[in-house]
Amino acid sequence: MTARPRLTVVGTGYLGATHAVCMAELGYDVLGLDVDTAKVEALAAGTVPFFEPGLPELLRKNLDSGRLRFTTSYEQVGAFGDVHFVCVGTPQKKGENAADLRYVDAAVASLAPHLRPGALVVGKSTVPAGTAARLASELSLTAPEAELAWNPEFLREGFAVEDTLRPDRLVFGVRSVRAEALLRAAYEPVIDLPTPVVVTDFATAELVKVAANAFLATKISFINAMAEVCEVTGGDVTKLSEALSYDDRIGGRFLHAGLGFGGGCLPKDIRAFMARAGELGVDQALTFLREVDAINLRRRARMVDLAREELNGSFHGSRVAVLGAAFKPNSDDTRDSPALDVAAALHRQGATVTVYDPAAMANARRLRPELAYADSTLHAARDADLVLHLTEWQEFRQLDPAVLGSVVAHRRVLDGRNALDPQRWRDAGWTYRALGRP
Ligand code: UDX
Repeated sequence: MTARPRLTVVGTGYLGATHAVCMAELGYDVLGLDVDTAKVEALAAGTVPFFEPGLPELLRKNLDSGRLRFTTSYEQVGAFGDVHFVCVGTPQKKGENAADLRYVDAAVASLAPHLRPGALVVGKSTVPAGTAARLASELSLTAPEAELAWNPEFLREGFAVEDTLRPDRLVFGVRSVRAEALLRAAYEPVIDLPTPVVVTDFATAELVKVAANAFLATKISFINAMAEVCEVTGGDVTKLSEALSYDDRIGGRFLHAGLGFGGGCLPKDIRAFMARAGELGVDQALTFLREVDAINLRRRARMVDLAREELNGSFHGSRVAVLGAAFKPNSDDTRDSPALDVAAALHRQGATVTVYDPAAMANARRLRPELAYADSTLHAARDADLVLHLTEWQEFRQLDPAVLGSVVAHRRVLDGRNALDPQRWRDAGWTYRALGRP
């Protein structure tokens, strides 16, 4: 074993590309692999195929340094690496709650015949408990001298570089002292920051990730449930949330009420977690996550109802401007985006919907070709009867309500993210309504 192991990253999507670039930035020699030639060519040419602040600069810097390269060849990856990070996706199965493991299975199976003796395969993908143990026994048949470890990833889109270079914690699911030592060597600069390391078994390592996401989703749905109660009592959920946040035991993060969570992780991870609990015979332990999911989806329905109320009971013949398409700001990701979901629902019910997002236009167009798109807030809002603020980009928070008011047909705004200043908008002659507020 070298002091600085050589690293490979299998799967260069969101997680893998970020991981490969950041590990090179930390000084490791890294070879990234993807089966998608277009992705590999783009990355090798210095282009990040998705929106992530700070990543393009680091990609180019580390390509130039020669520490980072990309390939489509498993043979090259096997020959190159001491530690192989598996970063492929685990999407939700079509029509089911469970996770689709075909990409993880394929990655490990393709890697196995090329591994050098002593190589460590490290799963980073979010998987159902029990997957690592199964993969380890499969690996032991084709590559008996290689070993498996599980090392879940907690990065957030929009903060992916920061989260990878300076994570809150590292979790190592290992079965040997050697595997732990190799992982420690692969993360040495991060561990030296210092960063806490939790060393554990496979099942716990797999569970840490889904438990963290289940907790975060629960926190968001908790405050959104309080928003539902505020709506019938005349309370203000933003004040409620602020008051709760001063209790250190509760804390204010992920306690922001609004249109709820979306994206490529939280929704599918809580569903896969429930599905796995069902298979293991402990579905009762997680039935509360069904409620968490339901509360979350009810916020989208409530937004549509509010919009209908504002338009006097019908969407027909009305123009609606939707600000935001990404599932959250600082991302171009539209997977399970609450904003796009609401926009599509309004369109289905007869509204003419025009969407603008600072970064997610291409993905939104692909996912929802039936909607109209504009290249700026002002263009989207021209002659609108109603403006919906659904993803809280800084650019929308800073909008001048007077300027926007000069292009719309009616000054009506619904704030799906509780991120605009109600007084400012009302002073400029707007009807301002939001989720969970009077
Ligand atoms: C999440 C986890 O945070 C991360 O640790 C994990 O690795 C992947 O899943 P991400 O999907 O990038 O990361 O998004 P995150 O920042 O967690 O936001 C998730 C969703 O919750 C967004 O739609 C966001 O708008 C929403 N949200 C977040 C709220 O509605 N209220 C909040 O208070 C916080």
